[in-house]
Amino acid sequence: MEIEVSSVMHLMYVSEIQQEMYDSAQRRGTGIAKRSIEYLSKKILEGNAVIASENGEWVGFCYIETWSHGQFVANSGLIVSPKFRERGAATLIKERVFQLSREKYPNAKIFGLTTGLAVMKINSDLGYKPVIYSELTQDEEFWNGCKNCVNYEILMKKERKNCLCTAMLFVPEKNQNKEAAVSQPEIKLNNDKESSISI
Ligand SMILES: CC(C)(COP(=O)(O)OP(=O)(O)OC[C@H]1O[C@@H](n2cnc3c(N)ncnc32)[C@H](O)[C@@H]1OP(=O)(O)O)[C@@H](O)C(=O)NCCC(=O)NCCS
Repeated sequence: MEIEVSSVMHLMYVSEIQQEMYDSAQRRGTGIAKRSIEYLSKKILEGNAVIASENGEWVGFCYIETWSHGQFVANSGLIVSPKFRERGAATLIKERVFQLSREKYPNAKIFGLTTGLAVMKINSDLGYKPVIYSELTQDEEFWNGCKNCVNYEILMKKERKNCLCTAMLFVPEKNQNKEAAVSQPEIKLNNDKESSISI
């Protein structure tokens, strides 16, 4: 399976991605923010999406979007083709999307909204924590994206404080020590008090 940052060669998958997003939401009976072909194509062309494929066949997709003038990055629209599910594709896509978000926007907080257990597991392994919606971007345009969701009325009744989706947030400064521990060599003292470095 290939996991790649999107480019023009992936445009051929856009209709299939949009259709599967819609069909999966219908099957699950859950809400989803609707994305147009134009919007998804733009994400693909800008290199703001990650695509998984196998032998030229589309496997999965996810994209990033910045909010609040770059203070936040959302990872959205994760979808895996039904015949490729439960083989770790979503995990690999989300890892790459997370890496892409950190590379492009190192100081931004990264978040996602989900009703799915699989995504909660993946996010939690990447260091995201569940939060209430006031911790997320308050950018009107982001929340306007929920207008097409079947649960929009619930969101409004709750004054945008919560809804059926779980919000998960990764805060870079809170994870700096963990990231540093992974990238820095461990320094150990020997018994004879000489210092040595083990990597
Ligand atoms: C949710 C979805 C993206 C998962 O894709 P996937 O490639 O099958 O996921 P993975 O194989 O990487 O599995 C990741 C983890 O979730 C678990 N998982 C996968 N599907 C699951 C499901 N339907 N219910 C509960 N757990 C699930 C896996 O066992 C794995 O857990 P583990 O790491 O403890 O073994 C895919 O089912 C899908 O596209 N669903 C429809 C769209 C959707 O729900 N998108 C998410 C919107 S936020």
